[in-house]
Amino acid sequence: MKFFIDTANLAQIQEAHDLGILDGVTTNPSLMAKEGIKGEAAIMKHYETICEMVSGDVSAEVLSTDFKGIVEEGKKLAAIHPNIVVKVPMIKDGVKAINWFSENGIRTNCTLVFSAGQAILAAKAGAAYVSPFIGRIDDSNWDGIELIAQIAQIYSIQGFKTEVLAASIRSALHIVKCAESGADVCTCPLDSILGLLKHPLTDIGLAKFLEDAKKM
Ligand code: E4P
Repeated sequence: MKFFIDTANLAQIQEAHDLGILDGVTTNPSLMAKEGIKGEAAIMKHYETICEMVSGDVSAEVLSTDFKGIVEEGKKLAAIHPNIVVKVPMIKDGVKAINWFSENGIRTNCTLVFSAGQAILAAKAGAAYVSPFIGRIDDSNWDGIELIAQIAQIYSIQGFKTEVLAASIRSALHIVKCAESGADVCTCPLDSILGLLKHPLTDIGLAKFLEDAKKM
């Protein structure tokens, strides 16, 4: 399973990159706004900076919701860097645009996916990635992880090449469950990635070893 970081914060991207486990980055308009990135030029520049920091795919989301607008915006985003993946919402014009991008050699990440039916449509349209939002599904009292397993199974049975990119991760346990459920990629906040490091017995064991080492 590939690890992406779900942020537009450059310091956090650098920290995950320095850990040596980072395969890519996802962003969305909320995450860009959180970093105070405003205006087309600043947005483009920020994506370019991220692409220079990491060697894997970087998802950049379109803001248009009509076919023509999505295509025009996506072309501009894709021109920033070969690692840019155009993030397109799961709406009717989005599906049409994903199909257009796929036929024109531009990779896409279909976002805001909450059902297996939506994931089938995204794959049929030729999305490189599909992003089910598991945390938000959990928030609505459904099982997000179950959806990851269902989509992974459907894609495997049907031979779809679209990668399952588990998004809206809220914890280290989510990451483990995504790995167990067949996600190809997990895009996570830095805290959830760092959460994988933690175990009290590791801390207790290390303290004891360091204490005993003084007697060596
Ligand atoms: C990723 O591509 C999504 O934009 C992101 O994971 C959404 O996460 P949230 O539900 O925590 O906002």
